[in-house]
Amino acid sequence: LGSMTFPASRPRRLRRTSAIRSLVAEARLTPNDLIAPLFVKEGLRSPEAVVSMPGVSQHTVDSLAAAAKELAAAGVRALILFGVPERKDPVGSAADDGDGIVQVALRRLRDDLGDDVVLMADLCLDEYTDHGHCGVLLDDGTVDNDATLERYASIALAQADAGAAVVAPSGMMDGQVGTIRAALDGAGHADVAVMAYATKYASCFYGPFRDAAECAPRFGDRAAYQMDPANGREALREAALDEAEGADILMVKPAMSYLDVVAALRSQTELPVAAFQVSGEYAMIKAATARGWLDEDRLVMETLVSIKRAGADLILTYFAGDVAVRLS
Ligand code: PBG
Repeated sequence: LGSMTFPASRPRRLRRTSAIRSLVAEARLTPNDLIAPLFVKEGLRSPEAVVSMPGVSQHTVDSLAAAAKELAAAGVRALILFGVPERKDPVGSAADDGDGIVQVALRRLRDDLGDDVVLMADLCLDEYTDHGHCGVLLDDGTVDNDATLERYASIALAQADAGAAVVAPSGMMDGQVGTIRAALDGAGHADVAVMAYATKYASCFYGPFRDAAECAPRFGDRAAYQMDPANGREALREAALDEAEGADILMVKPAMSYLDVVAALRSQTELPVAAFQVSGEYAMIKAATARGWLDEDRLVMETLVSIKRAGADLILTYFAGDVAVRLS
């Protein structure tokens, strides 16, 4: 005990009891921070379990409406819809069809829930194209950025007309936020917000989602439009561009392997920052906890609070319902 300053500095004083720990907790998780991703599939008779995501289903419109009510009752204030259409084609026609599955689902949820729950719609083409890429293709099989933007603008209008309060472009095309913003404003939807998947990495962690949304690319991969996991500075550039184009919320995706990006983005912007704990993160947690190797309750809370600590204001997570129930 030679050090002069040691006796004065005892951080353990503030860790002695649960009460004092909660008093000095820096990051807190509440149901209001959570956004629940939900899948709705056209033509389904009853909900279908997603094998690689235990506890997650592809919904019918009716089972979706029931799930949304349950989430709302548990205190979750936002959900984001992913649609699986019956028919796919090269341009993803079902995505902006007024009677497309997401539009049908949005109208139903808006009627059921009104303004109690923020209705968000993922805005992309990969679930709707027969080739599984996030845009329309050139003859050489690469994605045509600017032709895809026209499709995105049209999808944004279809989703807004159907009652989406927030559209969330996830295709990583250059200029997508500005194009969508202009289209919404031009059609009287100035109130519809854009949550940009600003920095979306070309990630292995989306594997289970591609089963749930039936959207694995038939050839190639998404590395020519989604970001390289090696890049952090580029993530900030992407986010700055989206902000300049009029994004209202900036998202980082996936979450757990990219907390450095969440933290850096938090200090770059004044906008709300969201992080998406994606399907593969969910699947890893479920797989390890099912074997008894890790404790699910503690693991889920630790992962989510660490995402908040890194700087996320909002978290998209398939655990939203479970966690909201536990918190309330
Ligand atoms: C694309 C989209 C994907 C996810 C959200 N939007 C898949 C992809 O880019 O391959 C992944 C979500 C998850 O893994 O939970 N529409």
